[in-house]
Amino acid sequence: AAGGLVAIAFAGCGIAGPGPISTVGEVDFETPLAIPPLAESTVDADGTRVFALDARAGTTQFAPGVVSDTWGFNGSLLGPTLAAERGERVRVDITNSLDEPTTVHWHGMHLPAEMDGGPHQMVAPDASWSPEWDIDQQAATLWYHPHPHGETEQHVANGLAGMFILHDEHERSLGLPSEYGVDDVPVIVQDSGFSAAGEREDPQRGYAGGLGDELIVNGTRAPYLEVSDELVRLRLLNASTARTFAFTWSDARPVELIASDGGLLEASVALDHVRLSPGERAEVLLRVAPGERVVLQSKTTPEVAGLVGPVADTNGGSDAFDVLEVRAAGTLDPAPAVPTRLNVIDDFDLEQVAMTRRFELGDSFEINGASMDLGRIDETVTVDTLERWIVENSTSLPHSFHVHDVQFRIASIDGAAPPPELAGWKDTIFTEPETEYELLMRFEDYADADTPYMYHCHLLWHEDQGMMGQFAVVEPGQHATMIEGTHHEH
Ligand code: C2O
Ligand code: CU
Repeated sequence: AAGGLVAIAFAGCGIAGPGPISTVGEVDFETPLAIPPLAESTVDADGTRVFALDARAGTTQFAPGVVSDTWGFNGSLLGPTLAAERGERVRVDITNSLDEPTTVHWHGMHLPAEMDGGPHQMVAPDASWSPEWDIDQQAATLWYHPHPHGETEQHVANGLAGMFILHDEHERSLGLPSEYGVDDVPVIVQDSGFSAAGEREDPQRGYAGGLGDELIVNGTRAPYLEVSDELVRLRLLNASTARTFAFTWSDARPVELIASDGGLLEASVALDHVRLSPGERAEVLLRVAPGERVVLQSKTTPEVAGLVGPVADTNGGSDAFDVLEVRAAGTLDPAPAVPTRLNVIDDFDLEQVAMTRRFELGDSFEINGASMDLGRIDETVTVDTLERWIVENSTSLPHSFHVHDVQFRIASIDGAAPPPELAGWKDTIFTEPETEYELLMRFEDYADADTPYMYHCHLLWHEDQGMMGQFAVVEPGQHATMIEGTHHEH
């Protein structure tokens, strides 16, 4: 049956055969891809750009006439895309219209710990919270999502997530596709469980957490995207709670990767696939010919199969999915050439490492043998010094590792230099079993002995189970203050 649908879907569009993946093809791309609206903002008297986000419950029709309960910001599913420019000061006025506490965390953002939206910045029902900070990092695709300890998986799975795009002058000067929703398109990929009728239901659960057997992209099932430019930039965000993807094109053309979590790579990289574990982002360029159709897919890769796959055994025992069909118009607007050099990324000087720390991702959702305790500071970091974090996944299953406040570089993976797609700025990495990652990072600007940031596995169920720790960034010679319990801010 799957093969038949593939034949129908591709009939008459000039693509020979269903592509290299045999297990996909269930999807016939009936719905235009929803594009999250760009968030409106105002600029107040002192120049701060002000956004508003309201977390609320609502309903969504994933299938016509079939109603599912979902959560969203300013709507019933996901949230608007926030966009800001380097150098701007931003404030987000958050209100919580849910009937339980939540938080809003700015994933990938460099900002003071009090503004971070981690588990210490809970927003009670009917309460509000207005973090503000200066955007001082390069152009990048970031995102926001709740982070209430023990509830993060559920809150994200319910639909609370959105993109946060940062621009800067350098990125604008490159002439990359930048018309939001037209040739610069957010692609928020999540897995989900659905009943036969199309009502959202709890996904199967495995060791990784909840693993749905269908995808939604920007909340749309089986979406297509019509484009009218010959060059399109897709901002891929894996906002799944547990599932890792290996994004590839149905006709096996290379995936042209230009940016990782923290911004542009030095040069684009042509890849067989881009692997994204939960929380990771990638910007890719797609060149299309008039009238062409090509499908973004996620394929089973050796690293993913045998790791996440058998645990979930969803999607007919495969991790392969159709994600999004791109349909090019009959005539296309030409695009300027993309510069070969996209960015300059200076390496950290290893001789300046002030502190080396080890993080062992172990069994029982522990890091360094400990489970998350909101009242315990695990690490104290001196502001503006170079840190080397050695992250070892000593388990036989994959985890991910995310650090708040910072973009880091991967210095080595099991002693070897990282591949080019992992050589840029990262805030989240997929860690393979029994593998060691050497990360270099510098926590700049914001010392606060009273408020910690988090590091954790971004498989959200693992995080909820306690696979998380806390670090405080302090002035030289300062000690972190022991905190007790969670602060509830109103
Ligand atoms: Cu995207 Cu601490 O999380
Ligand atoms: Cu994990």
